[in-house]
Amino acid sequence: MTQILIERCPQAETERLVLRKWEERDLDGLIRMNGDPRVMEFFPSLHSPEEARRYLEISIQQQEKHGFCFPVVEDKETGAFLGFCGLNVPGYSDPLPCGPCVEIGWRLIPEVWGKGIAVEAARFWLGFGFETLQLDEIVAIVVVQNHKSRRVMEKLGMKHDPAEDFDFPNVPVDDPLCRHALYRISAEQFLTQANG
Ligand SMILES: CC(C)(COP(=O)(O)OP(=O)(O)OC[C@H]1O[C@@H](n2cnc3c(N)ncnc32)[C@H](O)[C@@H]1OP(=O)(O)O)[C@@H](O)C(=O)NCCC(=O)NCCS
Repeated sequence: MTQILIERCPQAETERLVLRKWEERDLDGLIRMNGDPRVMEFFPSLHSPEEARRYLEISIQQQEKHGFCFPVVEDKETGAFLGFCGLNVPGYSDPLPCGPCVEIGWRLIPEVWGKGIAVEAARFWLGFGFETLQLDEIVAIVVVQNHKSRRVMEKLGMKHDPAEDFDFPNVPVDDPLCRHALYRISAEQFLTQANG
């Protein structure tokens, strides 16, 4: 199964983007992105360069195991690192209410926000997940106050049921980053949308 996923995980091009696996050359871009307070507003802390390096190592290990780990987004014209967007098999230490599952997520450098880049990349990966990997469902989780990211989920046609909102494991309940929303999209919903 793992081998099949690795073989099937493509390097792809969309209108403006190259979507691909993590490589060592992504370190500088990742250090800049994960050290930027605008990007990390809804995460517990900024990453030091050493933490960003560790993040890259783990991402490469995870993509070797599962075939993908929030793949890289690159500018097709310039080759610049823009961030990441795509599928991931969550490896959180505590189970999530939706687990086991495949999730979709994104993080981009602020210079390219608001141009539909996340939606362009995510649409490709939803199609890959449903059409190639034959997944039944893809989920996304988000801090409830992260309206930019929730808007991306909505633009992708993902559905949110407030009854499924949950407290993230091991985060104090009075921490503003504790409460999370869960979005889901099924293969049937995606394919109906894509065909119609
Ligand atoms: C979330 C993120 C990836 C979105 O990337 P993006 O390429 O700018 O997204 P898009 O341009 O495709 O769509 C953004 C949408 O959010 C909307 N938006 C922007 N700021 C908003 C706000 N404060 N409240 C509500 N919606 C907002 C935009 O108007 C746009 O919707 P529209 O096209 O209907 O106008 C980017 O903001 C980011 O990297 N944020 C930091 C990391 C992060 O929070 N990741 C998600 C963790 S769950």
